[in-house]
Amino acid sequence: MSDQGKRLAAEAALEYVEEDAYVGVGTGSTVNLFIDALADMRDRIAGAVSSSEASTQRLRDRGIDVIDLNSAGRLPVYVDGADEANRFLQLIKGGGGALTREKIVASASDRFVCVADDGKMVDVLGAFPLPVEVIPMARSTVARELVRLGGRPELREGFTTDNGNVILDVHGLSITEPIKLEQTLNNIPGVVTNGIFALRPADLLLLGSDSGVRRLK
Ligand code: A5P
Repeated sequence: MSDQGKRLAAEAALEYVEEDAYVGVGTGSTVNLFIDALADMRDRIAGAVSSSEASTQRLRDRGIDVIDLNSAGRLPVYVDGADEANRFLQLIKGGGGALTREKIVASASDRFVCVADDGKMVDVLGAFPLPVEVIPMARSTVARELVRLGGRPELREGFTTDNGNVILDVHGLSITEPIKLEQTLNNIPGVVTNGIFALRPADLLLLGSDSGVRRLK
């Protein structure tokens, strides 16, 4: 993992931010660097729509106005990180537990710019345990179904999402058909969202390393 890579990717995303418009903002350490960089152009944007309480706080601390998605309408750009990415720009997200709001804001955006260090690139998704947000009363039934599908779910201890739910991190999956698995998991009663972003992958991946930024479309 390269902190310099994260920073370069985060700063490169600024060129895709549209002036006088609201920008969709994800969650995580790479996005935190993006928010810091965005603060320098806060007078040239309308504000932000945020995917988590943590990002909302950081945006407001830096003087950037945050509005509710319902008041914003469609967004030209959404900037967010990833835990894993493949060459089709399909992602695993949710390491920070904000996957549901991230997926909502991504779906409301015309362009999803993903920012990550180059260590996030993989051939096959799934080495990173797949986060699944679950309504608390369905924790056990969903876990049993995840085992039936070949995974090893582990409850993220002591963690509650911004939506009041729990996260099951699913180990041992080799995700060779991301779109199919994303749909299958979303159909389990009690699952709010899973961390596969394949039905709506990123449109642009900015991969940072110590030597610069690679752009993948
Ligand atoms: C948050 O829920 C996640 O989806 C993050 O976008 C993801 O975990 C990447 O985070 P980092 O930028 O901290 O690696």
